[in-house]
Amino acid sequence: MTDTATAVATAHPNIALVKYWGKRDEDLVLPLAGSLSMTLDIFPTTTSVTRCPGMPADTVTMDGHPATEAVARRVVRFLDLIRQRSGCGDHAAVDTRNTVPVGAGLASSASGFAALALAAATAYHLDLDTRGLSRLARRGSGSAARSVFGGFALWHAPDPDAPDPDAASYAEALAGVRVDAALVAVLLDTDPKPISSRDAMRRTIATSPLFPAWLCDTRLDLPRMRAALHAGDLAAVGEIAEDNALGMHATMETADPPIHYLTGQSYQVLERVRALRAAGGNCWATMDAGPNVKVLCPADQAAHLAQQLTTATGYRTIVARPGPPAALHPQAETGR
Ligand code: PMV
Repeated sequence: MTDTATAVATAHPNIALVKYWGKRDEDLVLPLAGSLSMTLDIFPTTTSVTRCPGMPADTVTMDGHPATEAVARRVVRFLDLIRQRSGCGDHAAVDTRNTVPVGAGLASSASGFAALALAAATAYHLDLDTRGLSRLARRGSGSAARSVFGGFALWHAPDPDAPDPDAASYAEALAGVRVDAALVAVLLDTDPKPISSRDAMRRTIATSPLFPAWLCDTRLDLPRMRAALHAGDLAAVGEIAEDNALGMHATMETADPPIHYLTGQSYQVLERVRALRAAGGNCWATMDAGPNVKVLCPADQAAHLAQQLTTATGYRTIVARPGPPAALHPQAETGR
């Protein structure tokens, strides 16, 4: 019997309502503060991992083409971690398919590493519960820890004096959320971002005078956001989310040299969101490491809001609702 295994997994992107921006440990990908997100039901990533005994090196394809050197290096580093944990030195063939534009601040690394973690852990027979899987996904990309879960997810920062900070930093599904929310994504630009979030975080921490204050605010935003979600208070959720995102971007803009993920188009959409709100609308914006603006609103108003934003700005919009957790495809053969 040959000892091969293929596993296929799908995961969805998530958008943080309280952002993760800054690591306390680069190798272990431990965050300086906790974060909270909504997993989306759009733009899934599907990844297959085939463990190939005797193959001399890993192969990585993305959307049908060999992955760039930078992507392949990141995937191989992640597989090395899995080989080390499983005690199985086999190389693997990794094939990943995105429906989200890669590198444009629409969280392709979150869906990508959540899908890779689940497929690779299965192909290498690592026996992980969802907490273990989220800790593993975290090592590929911090925000991927949250895409292991559907709906709303909370990623814990380890206490400064935690004896095992790696074990203390995992995401979990947030139960008891009482808001019925949607996110309208305004798609401005799908070009890869000018600087990776990893490098941008490092530079922000090292040079932005605003970073310490934002970090303090974020630690307060997290319990306030949980309370607002549990209370079903979407206006409070939206206000906290928008302030937190604008604060994060202020830290980047004041880094040296400054990091500009937002463009004139992003600010145009932000102005429109503010104008709609001033006229009584229920909508709040959030932005990540890219120019696209995501607008939080009540689910039953999302289609109308998407139409309003498209009409006012001319940009394409897509409505996202809370999405499912990362999942294996049942047809894959995972036997030894
Ligand atoms: O997972 P990373 O390293 O790509 O970091 C993502 C950071 C933000 O998307 C900007 C915020 C977040 O919490 O998702």
